[in-house]
Amino acid sequence: MAGKLISTGLRHTTLPGNYVRPISDRPRLSEVSQLEDFPLIDLSSTDRSVLVQQIHQACARFGFFQVINHGVSKQIIDEMVSVAHEFFSMSMEEKMKLYSDDPTKTTRLSTSFNVKKEEVNNWRDYLRLHCHPIHKYVHEWPSNPPSFKEIVSKYSREVREVGFKIEELISESLGLEKDYMKKVLGEQGQHMAVNYYPPCPEPELTYGLPAHTDPNALTILLQDTTVCGLQILIDGQWFAVNPHPDAFVINIGDQLQALSNGVYKSVWHRAVTNTENPRLSVASFLCPADCAVMSPAKPLWKAEDNETKPIYRDFTYAEYYKKFWSRNLDQEHCLENFRNN
Ligand code: OGA
Ligand code: NI
Repeated sequence: MAGKLISTGLRHTTLPGNYVRPISDRPRLSEVSQLEDFPLIDLSSTDRSVLVQQIHQACARFGFFQVINHGVSKQIIDEMVSVAHEFFSMSMEEKMKLYSDDPTKTTRLSTSFNVKKEEVNNWRDYLRLHCHPIHKYVHEWPSNPPSFKEIVSKYSREVREVGFKIEELISESLGLEKDYMKKVLGEQGQHMAVNYYPPCPEPELTYGLPAHTDPNALTILLQDTTVCGLQILIDGQWFAVNPHPDAFVINIGDQLQALSNGVYKSVWHRAVTNTENPRLSVASFLCPADCAVMSPAKPLWKAEDNETKPIYRDFTYAEYYKKFWSRNLDQEHCLENFRNN
């Protein structure tokens, strides 16, 4: 049944029909490969030019990379993971107080992706929060578990700094001023999705999250260190991004693809399920200010003869975000709607 949480605490023994994908749209898990050369970038490196070069290669080739020595302490990461587990282990009654399927709500516990738009549901429950400015939203956040607000505030503040560091490296790696992205993105919003994928009786028939690209600027993902599930699409082939202890997975969102004039890609990714263990991930999304105008950086498209034009038209983030949530995930890249003719 759509609109029901699946994190019941009881093991599901059969997959309800509304989660079963048509044969042409199944994960085909045996065809997924391991990525041998997936970039692992050490943010504590003191050689800036090497770091910038690593970022460039990672963003141009994969749109995804992992970072270590990012400055967020192991303690706060462990606390974030355990409070998230605690949250999803609460009673259904407690959780349903926060349930909503309205994507415009700033704090909500929901299931699947967009239950009002989709035909087939996804094997995921998720808590979505707005995290910046914290004082504006913290009163809406769950008051249980009791330590939730304190831990999530600290975690989201620290992750924001990691995101800013990476935006600087990304700006430099495109040959732009260090603070280029920061300026263009305006006062960035920050959203969090705490994703919970219970063990699934039929991982070959359904997704935790189907293939999608992230609509925001930059995503900083903390994934469960013991359970695999994230996969990315490179040259038409799905690859598993297995968790590295202590690392965040970073990916370019649609807005950085637009600002980089397509030099960096917002890559398709998905989450698959497994029969054995619940999987948790915490995605932090840095988002442009609503009124920020997304305009491909001029040095990346303007040829000397003045003949070229950027591949995307200018748009505001508010316009983009509305478009994104009006769709189902099983559609073309949302940026295609903003392409210049
Ligand atoms: C997301 C996402 C992947 C994961 O929340 O946008 O892609 O591994 N999550 O949960
Ligand atoms: Ni995503």
